Amino acid sequence: MSNRAVFDEGVSKQLEALYGIGDVVRRRGLVRSSLAAAPGERILDAGCGPGFFCAELQEEVGPAGSVVGVDSSPAMLALAARRCENRENVELHQADVTSLPVEDASFDGAVCVQVLEYVADIPAGLSELYRALRPGGRVVAWDVDWATVSWHSKDPARMRRVLDAWDEHLTHPSLPRVLAPAMRAAGFEDVRMEPHPFATARFDPDSYGVANIPVIRSFVSGRRGVSGDEAEAWASELGELGDRDEFYFACLQCCFLGRRPS
Ligand SMILES: C[S@@+](CC[C@H](N)C(=O)[O-])C[C@H]1O[C@@H](n2cnc3c(N)ncnc32)[C@H](O)[C@@H]1O
Repeated sequence: MSNRAVFDEGVSKQLEALYGIGDVVRRRGLVRSSLAAAPGERILDAGCGPGFFCAELQEEVGPAGSVVGVDSSPAMLALAARRCENRENVELHQADVTSLPVEDASFDGAVCVQVLEYVADIPAGLSELYRALRPGGRVVAWDVDWATVSWHSKDPARMRRVLDAWDEHLTHPSLPRVLAPAMRAAGFEDVRMEPHPFATARFDPDSYGVANIPVIRSFVSGRRGVSGDEAEAWASELGELGDRDEFYFACLQCCFLGRRPS
């Protein structure tokens, strides 16, 4: 069994649905306001997934600007192509973020949202983002610190096993701990981090915690000793806690901003 999430057609569609929920829409708003794209700018979306950012950023840069989305997954790019089909100034490319098919210094800004946490070679990914930006260009990188997940359960040992198995879905479960120095080492200046809690005390389908239950359940089944039945029981308990109004989920997600020196 692969040690990491494979962004195949099934997972890509599952994430496309997840990215329509309130918390993820809110997250895109936070990223876009940190980037502050202006009309006429050229923006790179590194690891564009199903293309929500490409479409939304294209509206911000307008007809005089342009957006380039890059992703390694053909299934994700197919969803992005559908989402952006009537937008002439959006280009999509299949590539790895450690080897971007773009000219040096050709972008005013770049976003890289929940992508670097999957990338083994962080310095290579950051140096490609740096290379793509013009002097003075800004980057917004967003990653989740999965070690901050606090999730109520009457069976904390099972919750721990599930979360340990879920850590296998990516390469760096706590990338925010080291991302600021890695960005400075790549040459970015004015690096800052804005933490954002994603937390709920209600079984709210628009919350990051509730919406991730089916994604986590299907990933952890059969991993690290978590059987399909155990994953099912884990998910059922969360629903039952919701029925009794005892559901609680919290985690920290981190928005990093940096600038290529002018
Ligand atoms: C969790 S999704 C986030 C998608 C998008 N950034 C968003 O927030 O809507 C992660 C995406 O990163 C892509 N990805 C992971 N590793 C990558 C790599 N090394 N190069 C390019 N894309 C990568 C995956 O294919 C997937 O589309």
